[in-house]
Amino acid sequence: VEEIRAVDWTHGDDDAGPGMVLIDQTLLPGEERRVVCVTVDEVVDAISRLVVRGAPALGAAGAFGVAVAVAQGQRSGWSSETVRAQVQRVREARPTAVNLAWGVDRAVTRLEQGLDAVVAEGRALMADDLAANRTLSRHGADWILRRITETAGAGAEPRVRVLTHCNAGALATTGWGTALGVVRELHERGVLGRVYADETRPLLQGARLTAWELARLGVDHVVQVDAAAASTILGGHVDVAVVGADRIAANGDAANKIGTLGVALACADAGIPFIVAAPLSTVDPRTASGRDIHIELRDGAEVVRWAGTATAPAATEGFNPAFDVTPARLISAIVTEAGVVEPGDGTETIYPPLEHP
Ligand code: MRU
Repeated sequence: VEEIRAVDWTHGDDDAGPGMVLIDQTLLPGEERRVVCVTVDEVVDAISRLVVRGAPALGAAGAFGVAVAVAQGQRSGWSSETVRAQVQRVREARPTAVNLAWGVDRAVTRLEQGLDAVVAEGRALMADDLAANRTLSRHGADWILRRITETAGAGAEPRVRVLTHCNAGALATTGWGTALGVVRELHERGVLGRVYADETRPLLQGARLTAWELARLGVDHVVQVDAAAASTILGGHVDVAVVGADRIAANGDAANKIGTLGVALACADAGIPFIVAAPLSTVDPRTASGRDIHIELRDGAEVVRWAGTATAPAATEGFNPAFDVTPARLISAIVTEAGVVEPGDGTETIYPPLEHP
């Protein structure tokens, strides 16, 4: 199966460009269409509307977003202050995934060296992320198999049944995936059982994107409504939950798609491992705890409307926090390319203050 490239750069030898090439994830699974962003407005719009999404993919989009600002600046005669102001717009297009700011900042170090240098930095970031995903997936699979053998006893033939939430696959990264990368690694080792993909309200990243990736890979999977996760977990249908992260604070608290916290609570109650898989670029040592993570509050219309049709009374507003924070004490293992950390107990439970509209 050909590896998915959610984010790429074109020098402009084809129809448009130079610019950032994205698979339009708002159209999947119905349509596989590539779009090219050649202006900063287009980059900011693509990030805000989730044409490109998922923390590591946002890192790459941030880096190539800087390249778009440089290219547009050359065409339009922008001063270096204007280029920097436009870069700042890309950096702030979404607040929770630290990878976006990280990717922008990494490319900005090459700003003075011109467009080619910025693009090269974006490509280097992509190569690093892909390598990190491959390594962390092996660490994650090793950890899970060791844990399952410890629980079920040696000689047990494990077929690991996994629950995941949102999409932390190739589409959310520069290729391969993080949480779904661990799933793929188990699949390649021939020890993967069924995958339960939470549909992920309100924008259905699980149903639309995770299921699309799993189907391409020939993985046995089902999509369930988010509300089914607790009973699937307590009913003994899965052995482990593996999710990605948008930001991991210094104390191990981890922000991920809204609904992840409920999965973690159910896993704790059922006594099964809850694993966060992410590259080190998602760990933010400058964020002390979950309390300091800015949770994106999206338009309430995403909750009370679907495909242009109201699903609630016209006067009812939606409440739409895009992420929640799982306290470190509920996380059995944080898996990065550097290895596995087991946060365990004893950490203060911290919830971020939610802005209400
Ligand atoms: O709003 P999204 O689709 O950008 O949210 C994505 C997630 O929550 C992912 O789980 C996270 O970014 C990790 S992606 C490897």
